[in-house]
Amino acid sequence: MSEITSREVHLISHPKRLPEVYDFEITQTQLEPLQDQQVLVRNLFISVDPYMRGRMNEGKSYVPPFELNKAMEGGAVGEVVESRASEFKVGDVVTSNYGWREYFIASPKELHGVSRDIQPLSVYLGTLGMTGMTAWAGLKLGEVKAGDVVYISGAAGAVGSVAGQLAKLKGCRVIGTAGSNEKVDFLRDECGYDAAFNYRTGPVVEQLKVEAPDGIDVYFDNVGGESLEAALSLLRLHGRIIACGGISGYNDAKPKPGPSNLFNMTVKRLTMKGLIVRDWVDQQGEFEEEVGGYFKAGKLKHKETVVCGIENAVTAFIGLFSGQNIGKMVVQMEADAECHRRSLEKVTEQERNGVEVIHAKDAPMHPQTVSEAVDTWRNEGDPN
Ligand SMILES: NC(=O)c1ccc[n+]([C@@H]2O[C@H](COP(=O)([O-])OP(=O)(O)OC[C@H]3O[C@@H](n4cnc5c(N)ncnc54)[C@H](OP(=O)(O)O)[C@@H]3O)[C@@H](O)[C@H]2O)c1
Repeated sequence: MSEITSREVHLISHPKRLPEVYDFEITQTQLEPLQDQQVLVRNLFISVDPYMRGRMNEGKSYVPPFELNKAMEGGAVGEVVESRASEFKVGDVVTSNYGWREYFIASPKELHGVSRDIQPLSVYLGTLGMTGMTAWAGLKLGEVKAGDVVYISGAAGAVGSVAGQLAKLKGCRVIGTAGSNEKVDFLRDECGYDAAFNYRTGPVVEQLKVEAPDGIDVYFDNVGGESLEAALSLLRLHGRIIACGGISGYNDAKPKPGPSNLFNMTVKRLTMKGLIVRDWVDQQGEFEEEVGGYFKAGKLKHKETVVCGIENAVTAFIGLFSGQNIGKMVVQMEADAECHRRSLEKVTEQERNGVEVIHAKDAPMHPQTVSEAVDTWRNEGDPN
C-alpha cells in the first residue's frame, strides 16, 4: 500500500465558553507503514458529541482531557483498507474510538466489527451506537416500566429521540421538550411522543404542567437547568431522575447554582441516579440484541443530521450547542454529491425555519462553517 496522508482535527486551545473554530486546527499527517498485528482503517463517518466539550477543558473529568495539538478521539465507523491481523480483512466495517481523522492504524483489540448489512452505517454511531446505548441504559437505570409518565429533555437529539421511542415501546406515556417547532413535530409525528413542547416559547414548568397535569414519574435529564427545575416541581412521590447530561451548562465559564427547588428531593422522596454509559459496557450484547432487534423490525426510527467532510466537523460539533441537529449529528468523511445535496437541503430548511446558522470568518486550515460551505456550493455549484 502506498503511503497514506490523513487529515485530522487537533484541539489547539482550551475553549473558555462556547468553542470557536479557532480552538481547532486541521493538520495532515503521514501514516507509518503497517506492522504485523495492525490494521489500517479509513473512516466513513465520525461522531461529534456534547460530552466532548468536557474533554476540551483542562483538568480531570470522568474521561481524561484531550491533549492539545494531538488528534482528538471519538466514535467512528470505518472500513478496513489494509490488514496484517487475522481478525480483520479488507472491506470489513469496524467501529472505534479513532474519530476526528480520515485514516488510522490500530490493533485488532481497538476495533469492533459490525455488519455492513445494516444501513446507513452511521447508525452505529447513533441508535445502535453509544447514544442509543445511553438511552437504553438510562431507562434501565431509572427502572422505567409500563404506565410511567416519562418526561425527556433534549428529546429530539441522539439520546432523547431513542429514549422516547424505547419508553413508548415499554408502554409509557412520553412527553418531550426540544428547541424548535420543527423538532416538536418530529417528536410527535415520527418518534411517537404523546406530547411535546418547545422550551424556547415559554416557561418549561408551565408547559410541562399542561402536558402532565397529574405529574410525572420519571425525568430523563439531558440538559439540566430550567428543565431539571421544572421536573423537580412536577415529579410525583417516589419519582426518579435519570441524570444523563446537562448540556445547558457545558459552556458556562463558572457553574451556575443548582435548582432552587432541590428540597423536592426530600419532600417527595425522589431518587436521582447518575448515568455513565461506559459503566454498561458488559451489557453491550444485550443492548445490541434488544435495540438491534427493534431497529431491524422497523420499530425504531433512526434520525440523523449529516454534515459533509472533515473540514466541517468542528462546525458540526459547535452546532450541537445551538440545536442544529435533529437526531444524531454525524460527519460523513467522503463529502460526495449526495452528501452535499442533503446538507444543502438541511441548511435551507433551517434558514426557512429561522434557525440561526453559524457564521465565522475565513481562516486558512481552519474548519469551514456549514454556512460557508453551503455558500460555496451555491455560488460555485456542486464540487463533485
Ligand atoms: N451520561 C452519559 O454516559 C452520556 C452519554 C451520551 C450523552 N450524554 C449526554 O446526553 C445529552 C444528549 O446528548 P446527545 O449526544 O443526544 O446530543 P444531542 O441531544 O443529539 O445534541 C445536543 C442537543 O442539545 C440541545 N441543547 C443545546 N443547548 C441547549 C440548552 N442550553 N438547553 C437545552 N437544550 C440544549 C440541542 O437541541 P435543542 O434544539 O432541543 O436545544 C442539541 O441538539 C448531553 O447532555 C450529553 O452530554 C450522556
